[in-house]
Amino acid sequence: MSLREALRIPSREITDETVYRDRRRIVGALAASGALGLAGCAKADAPPPPPASKIDPARMRAGFTTNETRTTYQDVTTYNNFYEFGTGKADPANAPRTLRTSPWSVAVGGQCAKPGRLSLDDLLKGLKPEERVYRHRCVEGWSMVIPWLGVPLGDVLKRFEPTSKAKFVAFTTLADRKQMPGLSYPALDWPYREGLRIDEAMHPLALLATGIYGKPLLQQNGAPLRLVLPWKYGFKSIKSIVAITFVEHMPFTSWNDEASDEYGFFSNVNPAVDHPRWSQKTERRIAGTGSKLFADRIPTRLFNGYAEQVGSMYAGLDLRKWF
Ligand code: MTE
Repeated sequence: MSLREALRIPSREITDETVYRDRRRIVGALAASGALGLAGCAKADAPPPPPASKIDPARMRAGFTTNETRTTYQDVTTYNNFYEFGTGKADPANAPRTLRTSPWSVAVGGQCAKPGRLSLDDLLKGLKPEERVYRHRCVEGWSMVIPWLGVPLGDVLKRFEPTSKAKFVAFTTLADRKQMPGLSYPALDWPYREGLRIDEAMHPLALLATGIYGKPLLQQNGAPLRLVLPWKYGFKSIKSIVAITFVEHMPFTSWNDEASDEYGFFSNVNPAVDHPRWSQKTERRIAGTGSKLFADRIPTRLFNGYAEQVGSMYAGLDLRKWF
């Protein structure tokens, strides 16, 4: 079952596309004008500022790898979610290689002293990619263990000197119909967008990944660069990033826009907070199982087992409200 299939049928599929888009535009305009009484609501709905949490390097390193059985390269590269290339699990791997990953540039802007559009090489200049073996838990209930290759996201972001107004970071995927056949269908409100609180983005576990198993990322895994946030559900790990923007307020995120009661902004893995339509208490690990794609169910852990590393960022936060 794909994430899309798992969702209730969205209004756009039962409403004519133009009517649907128009309704979105009108609701947006009314909200902006305050006519729907949402203006105040948005403010009240901002999460509390993060607590001051200190990073203990030794504790962080303990999260950089795991002895758990790794998911095979074959499974990591053939069982994917990348709706720009189709909504089926095999679609992204089977799609024609239409994504042009070179040249590639990323526009970084917003609340920072040094905005700019950089080539991929310049963006990562001087940073040595490291291997991080992380658990990867999809909101749908399956999980993998993947050796990623990447650089700490915070090391890249610091280069742009975010200002004190940079409370969040917004990320955007490429949206080019010629390169991404899935964009011809309104599966999501394209481009795919994600966001993090600034302390989450700066956290040592947050990775800007360029490879898997020592090889450059394939198209289906989000070439040439994507996020990896092992303590959050997989959909936060946005692929094929072309823009990074420092913002003051909680940014738009694609899945939250699609169904806000089902996909919260934080989306931290949490077995105690069920998805409205299924439990999140257990998961099926895709790892070392050969032809048996799904292994038996195992318990899901708070923050996907990274509570030691990331828990302090959420001290005092009501994880049911801010799911
Ligand atoms: N990024 C973009 N641009 N488009 C997507 O459809 N899917 C997300 C995330 N990033 C997605 C995306 C979801 S739902 C998951 S679970 C992970 O990518 C899957 O990553 P993987 O296919 O490399 O395992």
